[in-house]
Amino acid sequence: MGAQLAVTFTGLRFENPFLLASAPPTESDSNIMRAFDAGWGGVVTKTIGLHPVVNVDGPKTKFLRSTPDSPLLSMKKRPGTALHSSWNWELISDKPLDWWIPKLGRIKAAYPNRILVASIMAGSGTDEELRNWQHLARACQDEGADALELNLSCPHMDRKDMGSNIGTDTEQISIVTHAVKEVARVPIWAKLTPSTTDIVIEARGAFLGGADAITSSNTFPSLPPIDPETLEFEMNVDGYVSSGGMGGPAILPMSMAKMAQMTQAFPDKAFSGIGGIADFSQALNYFLLGCGTVQVCTAAMLDHAIGSNVINQLISGMQQMMEARGWPTLEAFRGLRRDRVVTHSQIRRPAAKAYHGGYESEGYASTSPEPVKTADAQG
Ligand SMILES: Cc1cc2nc3c(=O)[nH]c(=O)nc-3n(C[C@H](O)[C@H](O)[C@H](O)COP(=O)(O)O)c2cc1C
Repeated sequence: MGAQLAVTFTGLRFENPFLLASAPPTESDSNIMRAFDAGWGGVVTKTIGLHPVVNVDGPKTKFLRSTPDSPLLSMKKRPGTALHSSWNWELISDKPLDWWIPKLGRIKAAYPNRILVASIMAGSGTDEELRNWQHLARACQDEGADALELNLSCPHMDRKDMGSNIGTDTEQISIVTHAVKEVARVPIWAKLTPSTTDIVIEARGAFLGGADAITSSNTFPSLPPIDPETLEFEMNVDGYVSSGGMGGPAILPMSMAKMAQMTQAFPDKAFSGIGGIADFSQALNYFLLGCGTVQVCTAAMLDHAIGSNVINQLISGMQQMMEARGWPTLEAFRGLRRDRVVTHSQIRRPAAKAYHGGYESEGYASTSPEPVKTADAQG
């Protein structure tokens, strides 16, 4: 029998472990249904809030491209370039909950075996805002959403009580997650921001609040480059720009580092990996670090808006690789490289040379009396 891509993640059965992430590919019912037809095992809706939002007066997403044999990195369209990353300052869904509600029900009725995750977001810090989270959660699960993903990570919110602004506040993460857990009958995934010094702390807060899984990464806070000719940001409105988020190939290694920290700290917990996935080889990184599902955004945006080729390649590439290695299911290799990420001093040194992590005299902290500084050594 061939390799089986079906997985169970937070108690839900997925035909395959590949999901569209919360973003433009999942901004409407028609997109989501096209995505299911194309073969995605699940989707996370564009983040749903209670009120409509108004986006900037101009493009919401652009793509940074590099040029071979040149250091140029630019959003300008030109031939012969390779994708470096996406940059966006798009807010959550500009359609409010009322718009989404009947559509969620219709999607689920048409695709009962596919997994529909509703991404939701409200404020924090008051009972009223916590009730807003609960309202969103109840409304989405009543329409058949299989799970809820809490957006604790949108990088471009002015409000201090929302998105990535609370994604670094462990207490608020726990409080919000707990409030949703109180009313949820379905699993809760907490989507964390990578913009933090030690993501393990925030992950712990989410698990303490009752999260069933962590999703990571959202986009990395960043600015678009400045055009050396015009001296304008390559993306701006009236010359102004605000912090946005970077996704796509450039964030894969950074997102992996965040994921490795969490899967090592919580080896028995569930993780959904995102960041720079375009084919099975990138998805494999996250599975080898211990993730049970992965999600895709940038690559799908550039492929018929919903990634129809991307999902075909993910499925066929992963299946072929598993068959070639004799792995019957994803569990055969999930987490196989999690424990290969170690402290620097655990990495082998050249023969007969020891290193003690900078704690001994050869390192940064001298155990001998303070050496006398010569003129050359003074910095
Ligand atoms: C244009 C755009 C809009 C996005 N909107 C949301 C959103 O509403 N909610 C959310 O949780 N993440 C949102 N994201 C983040 C993606 O879900 C994903 O975490 C990020 O792009 C990294 O994945 P990638 O490298 O595959 O692009 C958005 C990303 C982009 C590019």
